[in-house]
Amino acid sequence: MKPALDAFWMPFTASRQFKKAPRLLTRSAGMFYWDDNGRQILDGVSGLWCVNAGHARPKIVQAIQAQAAELDFAPPFNMAHPKAFELAARLAGIAPPGMNKVFFTNSGSESVETALKMALAYHRVRGEGSRTRLIGRERGYHGVNFGGISVGGMVGNRKLFGSLLAGVDHIRHTHDLARNAFSVGQPEHGAELADDLERLVALHDASTIAALIVEPIAGSTGVLLPPKGYLQRLREICDRHGILLIFDEVITGFGRTGAAFGATTFGVTPDLMTLAKGITNGCVPMGAVLAHQAIHDVFMNGPEHLVEFPHGYTYSSHPLACAAGLATLDTYAEEGLLTRAAQLQAEFGAALHSLQGLPNVIDIRNFGLVGAVELAPRAGEPGKRAFDVFLDCYEQGLMVRVTGDTVALAPPLIIEPAQIGQIVQTLRGAIQRTA
Ligand SMILES: Cc1ncc(COP(=O)(O)O)c(C=O)c1O
Repeated sequence: MKPALDAFWMPFTASRQFKKAPRLLTRSAGMFYWDDNGRQILDGVSGLWCVNAGHARPKIVQAIQAQAAELDFAPPFNMAHPKAFELAARLAGIAPPGMNKVFFTNSGSESVETALKMALAYHRVRGEGSRTRLIGRERGYHGVNFGGISVGGMVGNRKLFGSLLAGVDHIRHTHDLARNAFSVGQPEHGAELADDLERLVALHDASTIAALIVEPIAGSTGVLLPPKGYLQRLREICDRHGILLIFDEVITGFGRTGAAFGATTFGVTPDLMTLAKGITNGCVPMGAVLAHQAIHDVFMNGPEHLVEFPHGYTYSSHPLACAAGLATLDTYAEEGLLTRAAQLQAEFGAALHSLQGLPNVIDIRNFGLVGAVELAPRAGEPGKRAFDVFLDCYEQGLMVRVTGDTVALAPPLIIEPAQIGQIVQTLRGAIQRTA
């Protein structure tokens, strides 16, 4: 039976189009979804960049079922349950050295708000309360809450919502088709764009700046890769001026780039790191902020009966999420998934770059198991061409994601080479049909 579609106000959806031709997913397993018409759909985007180990993995399913029966909820304020500590320790164990304090949230957006607040409070607690300015990057995506859209740089997500947070500025984005189009892996040109942070230091003075937040790979804005040397340079400039560096690893975490985190892959350790999505394989909402020990320790002063960091959520470290998280980390480890993207990167990249030369394809980008095909917009209809490709792919049994006129790919890390071929073949047909 088809449900009535009226009442549900859908998130980030072209809802009138959707309700005319709904795409209802009813089942999932491994690399696939099935819809309410029984159609099998290859998942080219890990649900929404989150189902990194593939769908309905037995160990994760069983862990959630068992946890619901054993301990459904435990208050997280001045109380806890053992799996929260276990999961925090496991996450610290795969994080870059020193990033060993874990604060749990329920989403990427909440992780971002938490990290921004940690950065502000860190400076205040250590006596540099003038550092209140937050710096983001043009075209950045950091979720949808007020802090996140303020430091974010996607105009469509900002323009309806008033004046946002005060005291925020942005460095330039790194997307440079003129110099870097069709780069295989990280682009050669653009490390110097990191120096834009020096421009903001000169404008505002370092003594007013708390933190810089960037995604190691900007995903939601269309998969923008860091030019070689760029992230290292950001780290150096932050260090020079006492600015905290926050990596938003909500999509680059958990194996997407070929190591546990983008920080590891790119060899740059931030001060704070935001996580979500792959932390539970998308099965139960959860996020986390990993903080460097040195950040955390600054808070550990004052009377011992008082809260040191007045922040948290009713569902921080929810038992179901912790159980799912532990089973997810087991699955990643048992199947070597956190490094599988590094093994498949060359094959995935070559397959994707074979689309160069098709009509309207103006760039192809790849790193790990992240890919993007950027299309020339239809005249006067930005976003329409890629949306048509998305619809065509769905009709052909492939789920991709579009943002602007870029088609983004981020398949589950269990993908087999034949399925890479299937993704690229379907995309090829869709691009040709919608030309
Ligand atoms: C880099 C980044 N940060 C934050 C978020 C927000 O996560 P959520 O949708 O779980 O709030 C996303 C979601 O795609 C993201 O890609």
